[in-house]
Amino acid sequence: MPLAVADIDTPAVLIDLDIVEANIRRLQERLDGFGVANRPHIKTHKIPALAKLQIAAGAVGITCQKLGEAEVFAEAGVADDILLTYNVIGAAKTERLAALVRRLERMAVVLDNETVARGLAEAAVRHDVDIRFLVECDTGFGRTGVQSPQAALDLARAAARLPRMQFEGLMTFPLKLPDTRQFLERALQLFNGAGIPVPVVSGGGTPAVASVGDVPMLTEHRAGTYIYNDVMMVTAGAAGWDDCAMRVRATVVSRPTGSRAILDAGSKVLTWEQHNAQGFGRIVEYPDAVVAGFSEEHGKVDLASCARRPEVGEVVHLIPNHCCAVTNMMDEVYGIRGGRVEAVFPVAARGKVR
Ligand SMILES: Cc1ncc(COP(=O)(O)O)c(C=O)c1O
Repeated sequence: MPLAVADIDTPAVLIDLDIVEANIRRLQERLDGFGVANRPHIKTHKIPALAKLQIAAGAVGITCQKLGEAEVFAEAGVADDILLTYNVIGAAKTERLAALVRRLERMAVVLDNETVARGLAEAAVRHDVDIRFLVECDTGFGRTGVQSPQAALDLARAAARLPRMQFEGLMTFPLKLPDTRQFLERALQLFNGAGIPVPVVSGGGTPAVASVGDVPMLTEHRAGTYIYNDVMMVTAGAAGWDDCAMRVRATVVSRPTGSRAILDAGSKVLTWEQHNAQGFGRIVEYPDAVVAGFSEEHGKVDLASCARRPEVGEVVHLIPNHCCAVTNMMDEVYGIRGGRVEAVFPVAARGKVR
């Protein structure tokens, strides 16, 4: 392993460990301040060693988006308490889920329809386990989730009537005010009226951390991106540049014109993710440069607004638009501190999308 950052060949993904540790500490303190449990989403880093830091700082468990991630993290002995925030469909997956439930101290899964519930119940019976579930509520994001508080109650009741299925609570992503609070308030009234306890109300999202205090019924929060941060989080006002821990290290391989530079990192490292950002990443050494687009292995940089311009062979560092997507592009990332490489982390759950 290279000992100095300057010796790391490009393209490479670097993670500043001082910033990671500060981000972990800050989020934990904020959620502790609200009295809300911290259940970080590991899809951002996919690295068991970093999840161990999150748990050591006070997280109650972890969140995984995909079963394959949960299997990797269970195998690594990271946490005995995992929430899977995805509808699990088909016998190939429900078998694996039931095996995980058997193996972990606590494993819960979300669902938003009865087809999922029936498949889970069948696997639970076959494996002789109880499956804890949360009903996912769409409180304004427009993705998965039941569409009304009444639908949440109806689904919870229908699923809990199935064998070995245990209702544990409600889940939503992200927090949208005032919609999320109103939805959850009404849902809790309905559950209360029906005499059904709701031990867990799980919210999520890094920008949403600022709103946790405005959704007082939350018992836990799932933030993911906060551990690294990225251009999207800065654009959203959820982080500053100094809070961004991930850097893509890249070399200028060509300067075909006076105003164009080409990097050896293209869409297969930085990805086409854009969301609300301008361009496709921020070059730390040249903040006025615009990463205008990619080929797979070429990053196209417009230098027209730069007074100073890089030369061929120069190495630069980029803060990506969306760190979670970049995570899935590399076999390993370099943990750095003070210009030195402290660890090379295999991205253990890379590609675990099943
Ligand atoms: C279900 C769910 N929970 C939590 C998160 C974490 O959100 P963020 O990455 O903004 O921290 C995500 C992100 O995609 C998500 O889909």
